[in-house]
Amino acid sequence: MLSLAIDFGTSNCAAFLADGKGTIVPIPLEGEGLLLPSVIFSEGNEHDGVVTQQKNQGPILFGKAALQAYYQDPLSGTLIRSPKSFLGSTIDDRAQAYFQVAIENILRHIKTLAEAHPMSLSLKDSSGKGIESVILGRPVNFQGAAVHDGNSQAVSIMSNAAKAVGFTDIQFLMEPMAAALEFERTLTAESTVLIVDIGGGTTDCVVLQSSPERYGQFDRAGDVLAQSGDRVGGTDFDQSLAWHSLMPLLGRDEVLPTGMPIPNSMHMDAICTRDVPAQYRFSRSQRKIELLIKEVGDSELLERFLWVQENNLQHRLISSAENAKIELSSASDVVANLDFVEEGLAQAINRDDFEVANTYSTRKVLAVVQEALDQASKKPNLVFVTGGMGNSPMLRAHIANLIGDQAQVKAGDMLCSVGRGLGIYANQYSAMRLA
Ligand SMILES: Nc1ncnc2c1ncn2[C@@H]1O[C@H](COP(=O)(O)OP(=O)(O)OP(=O)(O)O)[C@@H](O)[C@H]1O
Ligand SMILES: [Mg+2]
Repeated sequence: MLSLAIDFGTSNCAAFLADGKGTIVPIPLEGEGLLLPSVIFSEGNEHDGVVTQQKNQGPILFGKAALQAYYQDPLSGTLIRSPKSFLGSTIDDRAQAYFQVAIENILRHIKTLAEAHPMSLSLKDSSGKGIESVILGRPVNFQGAAVHDGNSQAVSIMSNAAKAVGFTDIQFLMEPMAAALEFERTLTAESTVLIVDIGGGTTDCVVLQSSPERYGQFDRAGDVLAQSGDRVGGTDFDQSLAWHSLMPLLGRDEVLPTGMPIPNSMHMDAICTRDVPAQYRFSRSQRKIELLIKEVGDSELLERFLWVQENNLQHRLISSAENAKIELSSASDVVANLDFVEEGLAQAINRDDFEVANTYSTRKVLAVVQEALDQASKKPNLVFVTGGMGNSPMLRAHIANLIGDQAQVKAGDMLCSVGRGLGIYANQYSAMRLA
């Protein structure tokens, strides 16, 4: 049985096709690239950060097309960089419907590409039916607060979207469990493995009793020794770095004539690009910024901030912080280019800035790891760090420090291990159904 494994990530989507007999192939989702950026852009919508089905909005674009539309004309619609982040949060029915349609568009695109893949064409049965079975990854917790409601709401939005595009058999697998299956594939001896998946939106851990013999068995409930997850990931690091290193260039630290610091809530709203009320407030804050400039007296820095507000450029600020963060994984000093704010504007950022800016997020990531260690009845002897943020040497050093010398810390394919693991599970699921 053909099935499609989809890692619908906060930052990137990846998909693998499984033939039901053990073969898994990746599906290129954008040109030759395996990753589709998880970004949506609603053209014709007011750029107020609020998404509803009621407004007179145009089509919902996704992936690079969404980013291009925003870069070309940031005022022509609403950009949402990590739709998955919203699924478990408190959103009304209209916003839920909006996200479901956006996810349907993405799933339909992936399904169409998978059905055109030579493996699908060669296995297609005479009925001409498309792929009906899908395995979707999900984080252990979509969001920290109101955990259970948020999780069931998110799973239900994703299931409804999958049904709407024609999947009839829809299964979910915890993302760290998928990464654990991919890692287990490489093992030659029995091990207790801690998986740490640090993605764009969540950090998820599992401790799995693993071995070449267990690999391939469908029911692994008895081997799962711990599972933990929280809503902390790469986007939190981007926002904190933007706050720490970029917002001072936009007047974050200006003072009033009284000597008091200016209120910083508008700067905070600007960087909270995954917070609908914050984005709504920011979209309405032009007048307040103008008044603040008057109050402070001339402020070149706050004029820049006004420019960002007027032109809906806050997502580009976050992208600059993200690029700097990624570059800091291989360089100790980088320069964030802010030409889109003002020609020649740039900020030097180093690894100390990363550490200082991200103390809180780092602590949250480590708390997820510690929770898994505490839950497990056995100490892991291997640790597999994956997910895009797992590339950060700073974060890896903190994890290695926490683990101590009790286990070896390994890395693999940081961006596709969850997708591949979902593909492994898809084949196991097919085999189980046929048995
Ligand atoms: N070399 C790097 N150094 C640091 N961070 C990186 C690097 N490469 C990618 N990232 C970050 O990794 C994150 C994306 O990782 P990944 O694709 O695993 O997330 P995701 O699967 O989409 O999200 P999630 O699993 O949370 O839903 C982004 O925040 C990105 O900036
Ligand atoms: Mg992920």
